[in-house]
Amino acid sequence: MKIAVIGTGYVGLVAGACLAETGNDVVCADILEEKIARLNRGEVPIYEPGLEPLIESNLAAGRLTFTTDVPASVRAADVIFIAVGTPPGEDGSADLKHVLDVARTIGESMNGEKVVITKSTVPVGTARLVREAIESKTKHRVHVCSNPEFLKEGAAVEDFMKPDRVVLGVDSEHAAGVLRDLYAPFVRTGASILIMDVPSAEITKYAANSMLATRISFMNAMARLCEAAGADVDAVRRGVGSDGRIGPSFLFPGIGYGGSCFPKDVKALVKTMRDLGVDASILQAVEAVNDRQKQTLLDRLTRRLGDDLSGKVIAVWGLAFKPNTDDMREAPSLVSIEGLLRRGAEVVAHDPVAVEEARHHLGDRITYAATNYDALDGASALVIHTEWLPYRNPDFKRMEAAMAEPLIFDGRNLYDPADVAAAGFEYHSIGRQTVTPKTSKSV
Ligand SMILES: NC(=O)c1ccc[n+]([C@@H]2O[C@H](COP(=O)([O-])OP(=O)(O)OC[C@H]3O[C@@H](n4cnc5c(N)ncnc54)[C@H](O)[C@@H]3O)[C@@H](O)[C@H]2O)c1
Repeated sequence: MKIAVIGTGYVGLVAGACLAETGNDVVCADILEEKIARLNRGEVPIYEPGLEPLIESNLAAGRLTFTTDVPASVRAADVIFIAVGTPPGEDGSADLKHVLDVARTIGESMNGEKVVITKSTVPVGTARLVREAIESKTKHRVHVCSNPEFLKEGAAVEDFMKPDRVVLGVDSEHAAGVLRDLYAPFVRTGASILIMDVPSAEITKYAANSMLATRISFMNAMARLCEAAGADVDAVRRGVGSDGRIGPSFLFPGIGYGGSCFPKDVKALVKTMRDLGVDASILQAVEAVNDRQKQTLLDRLTRRLGDDLSGKVIAVWGLAFKPNTDDMREAPSLVSIEGLLRRGAEVVAHDPVAVEEARHHLGDRITYAATNYDALDGASALVIHTEWLPYRNPDFKRMEAAMAEPLIFDGRNLYDPADVAAAGFEYHSIGRQTVTPKTSKSV
């Protein structure tokens, strides 16, 4: 099939490369000239495991091309995916500016019947607006479908290649047939293709992300209860998650959800519900718990070290909002670090891949260490934001020797408290009792 993918971010690049891998001719288009120039040189502008070799091989095979000429990409394609960003507007709604810009460009460039698919996460009713924008510019027949994307950053290629399910909101038999054929190679192991009406598909994406965000906020509320009651949230998590009706995924407490999707999608769903006169209090509570949780490491550190941190070095492990990505959008680390800087601390941070992205947010206001151990020199405390694998089994002796004080605030529960106390540290984690080196007991 001849496919155009408009927007070459996390979603567009992965979708384009994976659709090329299954033999389609794919043009990926974006308005950012520098990004397209880099992609044409085979340089991948984001960190996503497995994506670079996929792009390289499909570029070499001639099945994948990159362009800034969006109209030409539309003219050359029978199937067009819209995968541009839908950032939050000021009132929390999804900003559809980029989606509707693309829809108008598609309308102006139509040279025959085409299937247009919104892959961007868009509120219910957007497909109708996309159709109106296209049809205002052309008499050619257009099928407008919704195919929300469920990939996770950090495992995006794997998720696209082996989806749990494919959701297709379609407006015609023709569109259903085209999309079924396109996705057939990805569901050979039995994942289902769920065909539904367009508004239901649009809502499914927000409902799925909001359900996952709800599980996270629920467990963060339980973590607070465990801290207050002297219980262990890990035990509670295992007890709850082994119930077959609940399952173990997305039950890890931490420092709040971040990234480019959950925060904005929960906000946008709240806005849609309120606009339609539907009570959104459940999701407003999810957001409020999350906002509080992002502050938790900072609150605990200032309770322990005082509000004036001038003259103190604070080491940070992990900047990205989760492991295996360099995405810093809405990262909880930014909340902690801004708070530390406001209180006069000198912040020395390490992240295996997100330093370049972090510089866009924090500039040179913090120091970036080459290794996680380098970050610890003279530090009064270590704050852990991201559960990167290399942080999981550190050399505690080396850490203790480097730090001014053996004090850890772990937002991801990476270690067994008894082990860390035995290694000589005071250790604060989430939903578990704080341990000190002397007693190895709760304080
Ligand atoms: N990132 C994720 O994990 C993820 C997962 C599922 C769904 N989504 C959704 O997919 C959409 C895209 O997300 P993303 O993270 O890939 O975004 P992104 O910000 O990484 O990339 C968007 C790209 O679209 C380009 N663009 C903007 N306007 C354009 C235009 N008029 N013509 C051509 N290109 C244009 C931008 O230059 C940018 O390269 C969003 O709606 C998001 O909510 C994202």
